[in-house]
Amino acid sequence: MLVLGIESSCDETGVALVETQGAALPRLCAHALHSQITMHQAYGGVVPELASRDHIRRVLPLAQSVFDEAGKRLADVDVVAYTRGPGLAGALLVGAGVACALGAALGKPVLGVHHLEGHLLSPFLSADAPEFPFVALLVSGGHTQLMRVDGVGRYEMLGETIDDAAGEAFDKSAKLMGLPYPGGPWLAKLAEQGDPAAFKLPRPLLHSGDLDFSFAGLKTAVMTQARKLGDDLEGRKADLAAATQAAIVEVLLKKSMTALTQTGLKRLVVAGGVGANRDLRTQLDAACARRGVRVHYPELHLCTDNGAMIAMAAAMRLQAGMQQPTEVYAFDVKPRWPLDSLVRAPEDALA
Ligand code: KG4
Ligand code: ZN
Repeated sequence: MLVLGIESSCDETGVALVETQGAALPRLCAHALHSQITMHQAYGGVVPELASRDHIRRVLPLAQSVFDEAGKRLADVDVVAYTRGPGLAGALLVGAGVACALGAALGKPVLGVHHLEGHLLSPFLSADAPEFPFVALLVSGGHTQLMRVDGVGRYEMLGETIDDAAGEAFDKSAKLMGLPYPGGPWLAKLAEQGDPAAFKLPRPLLHSGDLDFSFAGLKTAVMTQARKLGDDLEGRKADLAAATQAAIVEVLLKKSMTALTQTGLKRLVVAGGVGANRDLRTQLDAACARRGVRVHYPELHLCTDNGAMIAMAAAMRLQAGMQQPTEVYAFDVKPRWPLDSLVRAPEDALA
């Protein structure tokens, strides 16, 4: 079965082809990505209308290049998958509209995918694929969640952020330091030259005993510190970046270890854009090695948004019998869509 996947939830247009053979893990045939980051940088953040228009321009040429690279034709596609949510409504509608138009033209069914499920299952695209069950640390620009994952569509929320996401904490702190959008990778790069102990920043909810996160206070502390530094900020930026990263990483690390202890599981999967952070990876690797825990990440280039994870999640849902594709081309997107609603009512995904 050949699955075409389209991602357009935010500022990346992604298209991919994934092939399934029986019960074996689906194989990525080809994928292509266009990042809108440079377009949005001038505004310091994503401009939704510009994002939608750019998705329209990019999606079909990207699809063409994916078919060329894979040596496949449009007529070979069995299912067209697209990101149904969460994300920017207008941006989601582009992917959904194109997917439904292709599906209708080909007489093939479509399947709406949850963006976070795409991230969650993206490590299955790597050579070192995980096995169920595992604890998942999902750290993206909009979400920070710890989950127990027993199989495709079998997710139990263990804890999540009560305010800002980890990616947001990186991005907002970076913005305060005058770094370009999206700040996470820039802040991480700057942090390499800084001293993480140079400033004392709060570790929100570190000792709360539960698995929830809160990063809004950290952003405020970074702002206070930046104001205090005034003109000296420029010279101390690397130290402030290193201290900010250390605070975020320490909280993510500690809560992940607590989740492993509480569940008794010996496998950790890290997914989402912040999963590309090198310091986070180094520290998780060391802590997991000490505990005899196997840790899995998506390939670095598949940590941030892409079409491969959407095609993969669709293929894995179909293989697991969790969802049937539909020939109702409704392109009804869900800009807000909690991941655990997939668990409570899997049939709702078809509604
Ligand atoms: O998963 P993603 O591509 O988009 C969402 O679904 O939100 O994640 C984007 C987030 C941004 O906040 C970005 O700053 C962050 O991931 N990010 C990083 C790094 N690379 C991307 N944060 C810290 N260090 C990085 N190397
Ligand atoms: Zn994402």
